[in-house]
Amino acid sequence: MGPAVEGRLRADAGRVTGMYSAENHSTAAAVASAENVSAATPVQAEQAGFKLVDMSEPEPAFELYALPTPEPEDQPGFDIHALPTPYYAVDERLLRKNLQILRQVADAAGCRVLLAQKAFSMFSLYPLIGQYLDGTTASGIYEARLGHEAMGKETHIFSPAYRDGEFDEILRICDHLSFNSFAQWEKFRTRALAAGRSCGMRVNPEHSTQEHGIYDPCAAGSRLGVTAGAFREDLLEGLEGLHFHTLCEQNSDALEETAAAFEARFGKYLAGMKWLNIVGGHHITRAKYDIDRFVRVVRSIHEKYDVEVYVEPGEAVALNAGYLVAEVVDLLQNDINIAILDTSAACHMPDVLEMPYRPRIIGGGEAGEKSHTYRLGGPTCLAGDIIGDYSFDRPLVIGDRLVFCDMAIYSMVKNNTFNGVPLPSIAKIGMDGEVALVKSFGYEDFKGRLS
Ligand SMILES: Cc1ncc(COP(=O)(O)O)c(C=O)c1O
Repeated sequence: MGPAVEGRLRADAGRVTGMYSAENHSTAAAVASAENVSAATPVQAEQAGFKLVDMSEPEPAFELYALPTPEPEDQPGFDIHALPTPYYAVDERLLRKNLQILRQVADAAGCRVLLAQKAFSMFSLYPLIGQYLDGTTASGIYEARLGHEAMGKETHIFSPAYRDGEFDEILRICDHLSFNSFAQWEKFRTRALAAGRSCGMRVNPEHSTQEHGIYDPCAAGSRLGVTAGAFREDLLEGLEGLHFHTLCEQNSDALEETAAAFEARFGKYLAGMKWLNIVGGHHITRAKYDIDRFVRVVRSIHEKYDVEVYVEPGEAVALNAGYLVAEVVDLLQNDINIAILDTSAACHMPDVLEMPYRPRIIGGGEAGEKSHTYRLGGPTCLAGDIIGDYSFDRPLVIGDRLVFCDMAIYSMVKNNTFNGVPLPSIAKIGMDGEVALVKSFGYEDFKGRLS
């Protein structure tokens, strides 16, 4: 039996109102069914296994957001043997949950919300994502093209430096462009304005709120964003927006601090502008994210400066919504137990090495927590191709399948074929829990990038 999932149901159209708790459901299934329950009568909801509880306490401002971001539990909510390994599987039920939260938060805050494709570019899902979000944002020309082709809607772009040869295509594809320097703005301004594009400048609030140096655009010597000292008031004409990106996997207290630092340095330039992009790093869909604060900060900027606020989350869109399923290929011993898998940290989950970050494994524990501990490594020559040390209730055997969690984001967009290791297939877990192959890769995908 899975743990109970608790949260509040929205009082949709005067139908089901109250707390629910779902037992005997996998978390994913419970969350998916909870959505349906909100469109059901109390009797139907109870028949579906939900306990409805009277809410005597006052409604919190954002009742739906009290839902925890679904955490995988001991049993995956899909058939892990459905496809040959390795494969990424994105669960539409969990993705929709994130999208619903983002839409409702954006509506409450009065802002527009874009998918940052750098984190998640599974374009077969763009039509679904486009039902909830206002468009896409890109960091490079191909992302821009993909967002434009596969979703349409608004297409934004920011690049540390645009190149002459790509700029016409960018103008054709993108409606909003953010520049990283006044030199680039001077260079491209005439072409961008003639094409009727809305242009903005990325600024650097010089206020760090995190310790991951590699992900801190406010670190000393940063190349990202114009500092207050370098800001050119004399070149403001034609600029319609400002853009700041400083956060990484953070809560809204970091946004509030950063917004204050931004206002102190750049608030005066917003007068007369049309938009402010507060970009990414907002972990809106994770448990315990302070949504009320996010809404308050965004609303206050919107009202004070009369600008459209954009937010472009990457992680939050597909946070905890996907898995990487891999198989044990060999078992070794060298003082410790070692398992070689058919997936690689270096090739298929590079953030595990770069961030660094430890993915959760369904049914796996910390080293030493359960009876049998293994170091899990990939099939490449890289000595450091280690995913981590994990423990299990029983000894692993060759052919066992392991399910790594939170593998939708910054995984398939960053993977590579180092050592000629095959790329994982990409699959979707549908609303019915069925696993469907979306795409598989082969030798040609390796060879095609080489010559
Ligand atoms: C310009 C820009 N937009 C959006 C994002 C998305 O950030 P996240 O995936 O942390 O939400 C990033 C992350 O680096 C970024 O640099």
